[in-house]
Amino acid sequence: MISRVTILIQLLACTVPAFAQQLLVPPYLQPGNASSLTKEQKVIIWQTDSIPGNFSVECTVYGQSSKPIKAKPSITKLTLLNKTTLLYRATLTGLKTDQTYRYKVLLNGKPVAENIFETRTKKPATRFAVFGDCGAGTPEQAELAFQVYQQKPQFVLVTGDIVYNNGRELEYRNRFFPYYTAPEPAPGKGAPLMNSVPFYMLPGNHDTYSANLGKYPDGLAYFYYTDLPRNAPVTELTVTPTGDAQRINSFKKNTAPRFPGTANYSFDHGNVHITCLDANDYVNPLDPLLVEWLRNDIGTSKADWKIVAYHHPGFNSSKAHYNQQWMRLLSPLLEELGVNLVLTGHVHNYQRSVPLKFAPKKDETGTRYVVSNEGRVDGVFTLDTAFDGVTRTKPDGIIYIVTGAGGASLYDKEFGSNPELWKHDPPENWVPFTVKMITDKHSFTLIETNGKLLTLKQLDAAGNLLDEIKITR
Ligand SMILES: [Fe+2]
Repeated sequence: MISRVTILIQLLACTVPAFAQQLLVPPYLQPGNASSLTKEQKVIIWQTDSIPGNFSVECTVYGQSSKPIKAKPSITKLTLLNKTTLLYRATLTGLKTDQTYRYKVLLNGKPVAENIFETRTKKPATRFAVFGDCGAGTPEQAELAFQVYQQKPQFVLVTGDIVYNNGRELEYRNRFFPYYTAPEPAPGKGAPLMNSVPFYMLPGNHDTYSANLGKYPDGLAYFYYTDLPRNAPVTELTVTPTGDAQRINSFKKNTAPRFPGTANYSFDHGNVHITCLDANDYVNPLDPLLVEWLRNDIGTSKADWKIVAYHHPGFNSSKAHYNQQWMRLLSPLLEELGVNLVLTGHVHNYQRSVPLKFAPKKDETGTRYVVSNEGRVDGVFTLDTAFDGVTRTKPDGIIYIVTGAGGASLYDKEFGSNPELWKHDPPENWVPFTVKMITDKHSFTLIETNGKLLTLKQLDAAGNLLDEIKITR
């Protein structure tokens, strides 16, 4: 891994707006529409005030003289909350895997920002960080961002609730980008992480609360700021903007071709296949189109490790959001498809389950699963209590992780040290599936794969190890 040299030159003066552009969001990296490892690309995105600039992007192989890959950015004019800004995105295509590149963002031919990034690897080894529920604008969010940066992940996976409270454009600019695109790494401020590391993200409830564009004209900003693989079908029930028709049309125009398809997607990185799903309450987790896609997407994957990520945890022993269990309906399919690990957020703490299998209860006809009005899903649990992640490392079932302690205020702080509090009733709904819960510290998950070995660590903002398991296949 190269030492991360951050050369973020912010020459764009905010004091002379008549002659220069104010950089509202500095250039950051997104994965782009590249799912399998047969194609690699990255998208550089940045945002300025309303004064257009003659921007371009150049990318060369790091440390070698090579013909630059050039990209002219597209410009999306966003007029939101009566203010106009310009969102630029430049797609770098034809990149090679396992390669380090340097990119430069140029204004009138002169660099205004430059950085280094690595493309995805084809080697059977990965290292990535996972957290959710982060963009709350807290000191803990900054501390975690700094620690994640120290850990040098190849990519970051955000399991939803990217910004609070409503997933709005202004909230991203105030509570998200300043922490992950900070000019310098510092525990109190964050780090220049997104400038060189792609963030894969997925929509949580707070990211879609702003679907009423009449109330929140700058809502659903997930679709402005992300650029993710577009390889999943659009299901009938998906995130749907409401409100003024003109605003909806403008939103759709400004987020095409990403909205709403990138609410679900999958990608490969090294020997890991990760499928990201929208788990919001408007979704039918068993939509036939989605199920068919999952069967193909996960079922045909040759990756050593199959991981699924979504926001709302089905297996949660906290008090918070306990009843929101509808994603349990997908468990039998994920088990059948050989999924090893499910990563979630929504509950602002850390929880790890034993490897488990779950058969949701069916109605009297035996054809339909039962979900209560509250979202509860009863069923039959099979727990692999022999797995300990140390000496017994071959799980029989899926391990479910809640990693929602990424920055927002913590939930049920007293629970971690008191397993008596984890219990819920009846046994058709809860059994002791949780083996580890950390509720008094903000934390993130660091996953490393090396061939048939996967190591999962939970680290706090100081880098202290809070939990660790090894999984082998
Ligand atoms: Fe949430």
